[in-house]
Amino acid sequence: MEPELHPDLKPLEFLLGEWEGAGVGGYPTIDSFRFGQEISFTHIGKPYLIYSSRTWLLDEEGGLAGPLAVETGYWRPRPDHEVEVTLAHPTGIVEIYVGNVAFSRVELRTDVVARTTSAKEVTGGHRLYGLIGEDLGWAYDMAAVGQPLQSHLSAQLKRVK
Ligand code: HEM
Repeated sequence: MEPELHPDLKPLEFLLGEWEGAGVGGYPTIDSFRFGQEISFTHIGKPYLIYSSRTWLLDEEGGLAGPLAVETGYWRPRPDHEVEVTLAHPTGIVEIYVGNVAFSRVELRTDVVARTTSAKEVTGGHRLYGLIGEDLGWAYDMAAVGQPLQSHLSAQLKRVK
């Protein structure tokens, strides 16, 4: 049975569905790369979105060249267009973001980045998600391994469901 959308999810409704596309990544300490990505936003009738992302390295011809990062979490709309997001990574990192949503655009900044002892030193993040026409665009800046906040990833995805 298709659950009814919780009214609090209205401002985030544009994210719902499955998205596929490609992006570019880099950082001062690594070689730049291209990646493919699948993002899924679902709901169960409660006031949060269930989020997951998978990525793959793309080779020169745009073929899949092996798995890269995965991440999963929950997007929690709050009053006054605020949004809280929890994200867990298999790299020993957990991020808590806070931000806001307006006009099909979500801007998030890390409130907390927690790391296991073996995780890389990630200290902050900034994410933008928004519709570009009918596509979903997103960009991620991070402060990590002694470098100030700057771009790590950006991608553009098409809705496939
Ligand atoms: C979601 C898609 C992501 C993709 C496709 C991606 C891809 C990559 C790749 C290919 C590298 C270089 C090779 C390596 O060290 O594994 C890298 C490095 C790195 N990424 Fe990501 N990444 C993603 C998300 C993240 C996130 C969310 C964080 C932080 C929470 C992050 C933090 C880092 C760090 C700290 C490095 C190492 C930098 C260094 O050691 O110099 N990445 N990433």
